[in-house]
Amino acid sequence: MSQVSVLGCGKMGRALIRALAQAGRGVTVWNRSAERAQGLRENRVTVATSPSAAIEASPLIILITSSYTANKAILDQSGPWRSGKTVVHLTACQPREARALSELVAAKGGSYIDGAILAYPKQIATPASTIVYGGDSTAFEAARSTLEVLGKAAYLGADPGAASVLEVAILLPFTPMVVGLWQGLKICRLEGFPIDAYQSITRQVIPLMVDDSFKKGQQEDFATNPEKIECTVARAEDYIKHLAHYVHDCGIDPGIYCALARLFAGGVAAGLGEHDWVCAPDLPIVNANLLTQEAAPPAATSVPGKGGGV
Ligand SMILES: NC(=O)c1ccc[n+]([C@@H]2O[C@H](COP(=O)([O-])OP(=O)(O)OC[C@H]3O[C@@H](n4cnc5c(N)ncnc54)[C@H](OP(=O)(O)O)[C@@H]3O)[C@@H](O)[C@H]2O)c1
Repeated sequence: MSQVSVLGCGKMGRALIRALAQAGRGVTVWNRSAERAQGLRENRVTVATSPSAAIEASPLIILITSSYTANKAILDQSGPWRSGKTVVHLTACQPREARALSELVAAKGGSYIDGAILAYPKQIATPASTIVYGGDSTAFEAARSTLEVLGKAAYLGADPGAASVLEVAILLPFTPMVVGLWQGLKICRLEGFPIDAYQSITRQVIPLMVDDSFKKGQQEDFATNPEKIECTVARAEDYIKHLAHYVHDCGIDPGIYCALARLFAGGVAAGLGEHDWVCAPDLPIVNANLLTQEAAPPAATSVPGKGGGV
């Protein structure tokens, strides 16, 4: 028997396995492509030949493949479980999927914790690593000392979907922000603007804007109260179009900004042009067709030019 089994030896799985082994935990691992797991053989790491063998090997089971569907199949297909097992599901998934896995694990007699890793693999087991968890509180407390090896462990409550909700709510602003930041770096380089000035002013201004956005977003009347309105939906459409044209002129894909410009244009068309742009989440859905389009790269001629596409 080992103390913890880790199923999935990708970039994140390997970081978790190394941290656990270095902290003295006995670890059993399994990976779909066996060679990736074999490379991890070291003191206190045992390689299992099947997912069921990995589940059998430890009381604490960490699932960290890149696929919720794969994790569900692994649990579905595993044989009868010994009592006292806790599954910690760390693969990004939707809240309803986490809740479904919790029921599946309960039906097998186990306890379920769902986590979201708010860190990169290289940050695991450093002060930069935070992992949030929801689900069975007793099981979380029992596993806490092992989970704290991986980073700060924050418990969000009994809802197994809680970690996914928080992860999505953080990734929604984070994802376009870092893409925009890397685009900003490219523009500074192209224009010969000093990167250190870009970095220091950004670090000064963005946290203040984040705090301001949290405050506005919680005031129900902010979008419509003339005393409060600061930037209208119509102005947002204008400035985002300006961003789209400029990044395109710099040879950067303007797609994120085209989608945002369409969103605010839809708001103007719906008669909400003079509302504050804090109403963005309540504007009519105009970009859903992007979800069904092929992810294939567009032909060069189909890239929207200045004056078109946004
Ligand atoms: N990397 C990051 O920066 C980061 C940060 C935070 C959270 N996460 C989360 O960590 C999870 C894993 O990400 P990762 O970066 O480790 O991904 P990765 O390096 O691409 O590894 C994917 C892992 O999933 C396994 N896998 C994929 N499909 C499978 C299937 N159908 N059946 C069984 N195993 C399957 C792969 O096995 P094979 O080796 O056989 O392909 C591999 O072990 C994701 O949910 C991700 O959101 C990652």
